[in-house]
Formats: sequence, C-alpha cells, structure tokens
Amino acid sequence: MVQSGNWWKEGIVYQIYPRSFNDTTGNGVGDIRGIIEKLDYIKSIGVNIIWLNPVYESPNDDNGYDISDYQNIMSEFGTMDDFDELLAGLHARGLKLVMDLVVNHSSDEHEWFQQSKSSRENKYRDYYHWWPAEKGIPPKRWSYFDVESNAWKYDEQTDAYYLHYFSVKQPDLKWENPDMRNDVYTMMKFWFDKGVDGFRMDVIPFISKDTTYPELAADAKPEDFVAFYANGPKLHTYLKEMNDEVLSKYDVMTVGEAPGIAVENALDFVDEERKELNMFFHFDLMSLDRDPDEVFTMNKNGWKLSEFKKIHTIWDQAFANKGWGSMYLSNHDFPRSVSRWGNDHPDFWRNSATLLHTFLLTMRGTPYFYFGDEIGMTNIRFESIEEYRDINTINKYKQLKSQGKDLEAFIENEKEAARDNARTPMQWDETEYAGFSTSKPWIQINKNYLNGVSVSTQEKDPYSVLNYFKQMTAVRKANKALIYGEYQIIDETHEQIYAYTRTLNDERFLVLLNFSTESSVFTLPSSVNYNATKLIISNDRVKDDKTYKEFLLLPYQALVYKLL
Ligand code: GLC
Repeated sequence: MVQSGNWWKEGIVYQIYPRSFNDTTGNGVGDIRGIIEKLDYIKSIGVNIIWLNPVYESPNDDNGYDISDYQNIMSEFGTMDDFDELLAGLHARGLKLVMDLVVNHSSDEHEWFQQSKSSRENKYRDYYHWWPAEKGIPPKRWSYFDVESNAWKYDEQTDAYYLHYFSVKQPDLKWENPDMRNDVYTMMKFWFDKGVDGFRMDVIPFISKDTTYPELAADAKPEDFVAFYANGPKLHTYLKEMNDEVLSKYDVMTVGEAPGIAVENALDFVDEERKELNMFFHFDLMSLDRDPDEVFTMNKNGWKLSEFKKIHTIWDQAFANKGWGSMYLSNHDFPRSVSRWGNDHPDFWRNSATLLHTFLLTMRGTPYFYFGDEIGMTNIRFESIEEYRDINTINKYKQLKSQGKDLEAFIENEKEAARDNARTPMQWDETEYAGFSTSKPWIQINKNYLNGVSVSTQEKDPYSVLNYFKQMTAVRKANKALIYGEYQIIDETHEQIYAYTRTLNDERFLVLLNFSTESSVFTLPSSVNYNATKLIISNDRVKDDKTYKEFLLLPYQALVYKLL
C-alpha cells in the first residue's frame, strides 16, 4: 500500500558536516556560505533532504554537539542571516532542511548550566542532574568521552557532582524538570517557525533518567550502560509530549539517533498511532564489525554477509506494516562506508562504492548518505595521535596511556574505527587543499583527492562513482516500488551475494549485489516466477543469460532488473 504525502519517505537524505564541507573565509573551517555556494551541486546529485550537523553556538569540545546557545549560529560558521539565506536557497530548489537537535545535554558554557552550577538554590539548578557530595560517591555511570569513563564530575562550587554521559563539557539536561522541557519546546518552535523541515535527534533515547540513580551491576560493561541509558522510565511520555506540544503543529520529519534500542521496541517510537517520531537510526549494523563488549573496537574476525543481510531483513520486517525505517551505512560518527562495508583497494573501490549506493537506494526505508559518499571518499587512517581532532579518540588514547595499555594497537584500531575517518574535508577538485579551502584545513585532507576521488574529476567521467550515484538516485525516484515495495530476501545464507526482490502491485524488481572480490554465478531459485528480465542499471559489464535464470556477477557488481 502506498502511503501518500510523506515526503520524508520518498526523499533521499544527504548529511552535511559543515566543518568539513566547504570553506569560504579561508580559515580552514567549513561554513554556511560554503554550503550556499554548493547548492546547485547538491541539487544535481539527486538528493532532496539535507541533514545539517549542529551549527549552533558552541565551544566545540565535541564539534558542535556541545551547544552553548541553541538559538544562535556558531560564529566560525557564519551568522543567522547566512543561515536564513541557506534555508531560502534550499527551499527555492525544492530541497528540505533537517537540523540536529541536541537536547540530551548542553555545553557547560550554556547559560542554563552556568546558572545551575552557581548555587544549589538557583532557579536553573534542576535543569541538570546533580548529586550532592554529602550523599557520598554517586553510583557508577559510564561516560563515552571521559578520560576515566566516569560520567559524574565533581564541582567544587556547590560541592556536588553533575552527570555527563559524554564529555565533562556536556552536562546532561534534566528532562524530569517541566520548565526545562518547555524551554526546549520553545526553542524547537523557533526553528520550525523559521521554516526548518525537521530534526535529527541526538541520542534521544537517553533523555529520560531514573533520578533515584540506582546502582548498576558491578560488572556492567559499556554496552550494558548504553542499553540502560536508552530505556529510561519516561522516555515515551516525553516524546509524546514533544509531539503534542511541537511536532504535531508542523509538517516536519523527525529521525531519532537511537543507540541501545532493540528491534523488539522499534514500533514504540515510530508506530504512527503512537504519535512520537517518524524514524530512527538503529545501531545493529554499526555494531556488526565491532567487539561485542567495546563499541569502539573492531572485531578481529571481521563481519559476515549473512549477518549483514539478517540485520537488514529483520529491520525491514519490523516496519513492514507500521512505522518506517531509515537506511544508513555511514555518518560523522563512523568510518567511511566504502572502506567499511565495501573495499577501498584500487581494484575494487569503484564497484564497491557504487554497489553500496545501489543497496541503499533499493531498500525500503529512507536512505541517508553522508557527504563525500557520492564520490566514494575513503578512510584516511591516521598514523599518529597528533593527527586526530576527535575528543573520542584523543581521550581514549589518554586513558589507555595512563593504564599502560598497548597504544600502537589502539592507533591500528582507530585506522578502521575512528570517527575522524569520516570528518576529513570534502574533495572538490585537484587544486591545493582539494578546493575545500585556501589555507590548511582544521583536519588533514585525504591525499586521494589527487587520484580520482574528487568532484571535478568525477563530473567529467561518465563511468565515475559520482555519475553512477546520480543515475541511481534517479532510478529510485522514478520507481515507487523501490521505495514502498515489499522486500523479499533470496538465499539469506549466501556469503557472497545479497539478492532480494522489491514488489509493489504488479511491479517487481530484482536486486543482485556481489559483496566480494570474486566473480560468482547466481542462480535464481525456481520459486521466483517470471518470464524475462529487463536491466535497469548495473555498475559493470553485463552478460545477459538467455534463460534469464543465471546471473554472472563480477567482483562487487550490482545489478537491478525488472522482472517481467
Ligand atoms: C551523537 C552524535 C555524536 C556526538 C554524541 C554526543 O552520538 O552523533 O557525534 O558526539 O551524540 O552529542
């Protein structure tokens, strides 16, 4: 059944990390005018919803995820006038803008926190989570970015500890306080009244806390904490209230970032009747190649295609009748998709990058691309800690160093796992600094901008990753079956080929993806009934079989057929 009027179901999202997209002031940092300059480019690649990482005022302890003023633009990025021009420029081109909503925590430099920490009697005291020191050491809480992984920080001024799931400069807001919630809703309306089209909600499942702060198991691991953080007692009460007070009044889209949420609970967030969110990002795929006990450590055994398929099949089923999914392979918190799920060796880079594009654009659920994916940008794999800019890598390094752990092994791990892999500047052309800036960028540029990984070289090459991306976005937009059609996996245990059909009414598509460095002949089981096939798109040479039953797939080849 086609649901109509849901632009965010039919849209293709393009995520922009503003610090790394395009610098127009020559200070080595991307800015809003840089995005304005590239609006025609953005339009040309076929995406239609822009998700912008935080551009609000921030001391940048965590690159804008530590907000000190929710209603102002970070001066490094420009002004509110620049922002208004960006929004108008997007709308003039029929593009939507989704902002980042970071309200699990603020910056410690936010006025609310400054007031809150000033005295126990201050009217903002209860905007944050405080534990008075006279009650002793607070129950253990794990922190993502703290050098000691300790989420409680002692503050002398009022002799109390405050809670910070992320860095010490990111104190957690107290959603249990209705005044705080109202201030957040007012701020959201400010952006919606400007015409913003939605929010991506940062770690949204973490907002509700058990304010009795119970002791957790002594041997609890980071993953146990994440699951505990994500299942606070009043989470759905707050989301419903937010929907009722704010979201329901506008035609906007919402997508929650949802670490710790299992597929069994998926519909609690996105079942339309519950009136909470439209979509969320689950983390099952993001954990697939990681150590089960350590979210940031790569699993030495790699990952299996059958597991990759299983995750996507289970999540597709979760939203088969209600709700809606979101499909992503990368973002600013994870390595580059072609380096992680494809193969960035020169022999396989092009095909695997385009195979991944084919995958995201032929699955049900809204596809999310991260800037640079369209040209197949790869991991930079820094050799030393000095090259890193991310607090996550830097503080983990400090921690391991103080514990006398193996730092070389850590740097090796970060080459595949680090968030900075995805934060290197956009590669526009082959001039110095890749056309991103006229001076040394805030983080190094990947040298492969000189070897074909740039917009200007790829625009000229009909066979490029970029041109395939454009063709593939057009294919999705032209075929409702690729958006709404039922998904049926074929041969789920095959470790080389991912094969599935997408069916809507009397239209059926077959997608064949060879996730390997070896050619393979795939034979369709007789249960898939059809008379002939019509090729829709392929990223490599195609050898059509006269029986229409056997398909030769070259390394990382992607094939999309219509079944007739
Ligand atoms: C989310 C963001 C990430 C940030 C963290 C804390 O996971 O995506 O970049 O560091 O929240 O705000």
